[in-house]
Amino acid sequence: MKIIMLGAPGAGKGTQAKMIAERYGIPHVSTGDILRANIKNGTELGAKAKTYMDQGLLVPDDLVVDLVIDRFREADCQNGYILDGFPRTIPQAEALDRALQAIGESVDYAINVEVPDENIVRRMSGRRACVSCGATYHIVYNPTKVENICDVCGGELILRDDDKPETVQNRLSVYHDQTQPLIEYYNKKGILQQVDGTVDMKDVFAAICKILGE
Ligand code: AP5
Ligand code: MG
Repeated sequence: MKIIMLGAPGAGKGTQAKMIAERYGIPHVSTGDILRANIKNGTELGAKAKTYMDQGLLVPDDLVVDLVIDRFREADCQNGYILDGFPRTIPQAEALDRALQAIGESVDYAINVEVPDENIVRRMSGRRACVSCGATYHIVYNPTKVENICDVCGGELILRDDDKPETVQNRLSVYHDQTQPLIEYYNKKGILQQVDGTVDMKDVFAAICKILGE
């Protein structure tokens, strides 16, 4: 099963993708997480990506496309995967289609998590991410058991650099310009599914499971 998660920054793509990955036993491939790991490890790719990410801009297509295509050739992706944050532009979607067509495969579901812009800024300012394992929380909607300590690994929680309100505005306008057209792209292919992302995260997950077949 090959799934793409679509949605604005902060719509809950990562939150849902983690739960889907666990339920269906497929890997969660997040380009944002891969890029942040590269920044943390001080790689050349990380240094290049950081200059864009800190401004809320997209990293150039050529830096992310090969990264993802190499990733889904790894053994754990044999039974499928869930892509979170990729594709994010029409050229990325076309590159993904070409790579899959070359091996006689295609994407099964593109799930769009719908959340209006008004809700997004509130969500981002309350999000906290674990520096060690990348687990995400929300200070109101999904708090940790002990304040500022990751439930999964005991790591420290931080506010992501790009979650400051002014950067969130940039990410939203980049989303509307460059990523939102993918909704129509996948609609035309007949694989688009829409879910309401404003309800409780468990209810969003239930709606997705219904689409995927439990
Ligand atoms: P990326 O890491 O992908 O960020 P994003 O798309 O902006 O999305 P987020 O991770 O911010 O949000 P999310 O939808 O995963 O929401 P979450 O589940 O955390 O990318 C970051 C940057 O990397 C980009 O700006 C770009 O520069 C670069 N990049 C990455 N991929 C790229 C690509 N393909 N091409 C080019 N550049 C790329 O939830 C948000 C918060 O809300 C959390 O606190 C959560 O607990 C809470 N929440 C979730 N669901 C609910 C709910 N139902 N109710 C209440 N709260 C909820
Ligand atoms: Mg995310």
